[in-house]
Amino acid sequence: MRSLRMLEQVVERIETAEVLDRPAEVVAGLLGRVPRPGPVEDFASGTAIGHPLHPALVAVPIGAWTAVSYLDLTGADADTARRLVGLGNLAALPAALTGANDWLSTVGAERRMGFVHATLNYTALTLYGASWLARRRGRRGAGTALALAGAGVLSAGGYLGGHLTYAAGVGVDTTVFQQFPTDWVDLASESDVPADGAIAHEVNGVPILLARDSGQVVALADRCTHRGGPLHEGTIADGCVTCPWHESVFQLADGTVVSGPASRPQPVLDARVVDGRVQVRRGPEPRALRTNPVGH
Ligand code: FES
Repeated sequence: MRSLRMLEQVVERIETAEVLDRPAEVVAGLLGRVPRPGPVEDFASGTAIGHPLHPALVAVPIGAWTAVSYLDLTGADADTARRLVGLGNLAALPAALTGANDWLSTVGAERRMGFVHATLNYTALTLYGASWLARRRGRRGAGTALALAGAGVLSAGGYLGGHLTYAAGVGVDTTVFQQFPTDWVDLASESDVPADGAIAHEVNGVPILLARDSGQVVALADRCTHRGGPLHEGTIADGCVTCPWHESVFQLADGTVVSGPASRPQPVLDARVVDGRVQVRRGPEPRALRTNPVGH
């Protein structure tokens, strides 16, 4: 389809536009200076709910602003339309903050795309802010035009946000399509597993971390669920592994997230020692896409 091809070309141009790197780094540097104590970062990352928070929060301003367009185009209730613009503007603030938090842990093409996505959405918010002011002064016509312009810019920003999630996988558990061995496979000598560190070996191209929890050998996916950091390069302490990239902490025993920014637990494999050799296999796996990625 020609229109789809055009959209893909736009996306590709943004992803490869090195000219965006400098302004993106400046913004990231400024945002990085804002103190984000662990609990605040965890909350913004959605660690407590097991999913990124940003996609849930964006539904509120989008819903409010969409209702505004309906009221404007049907000529209904100007006062309600103005209030909904205000609601959308206020709700956009936590959505923007959580988005910025997620964006800070991106690099390369994803960082460029996120930069443009955010720029479009801030432009839309500015237009809706102007729309609210116009309506407050009794100029509904101007308010309607500004809101429609905002809706157009917001749609473009939303398209890029969708690309970030569904095509680039930002915010998606990075282990979700990894296929772990269904039967026991020999992975390493038990003596190779350090007492206070970790090693990683691959099975069919999938890196698996081996470490010790209270002396027992444990096996987890080595690829961090957050952005794919190599956990075996992190630190092992107090029954947990800390990711070397953004310092998410996971329990070795069951993969539970102790602290974020990761929101998804680390997959844990069954591990046993037979004749001094460590063997691993995945546990029961109900997920259709992981166990049968081809489908029926
Ligand atoms: S990759 Fe971000 S915490 Fe591991």
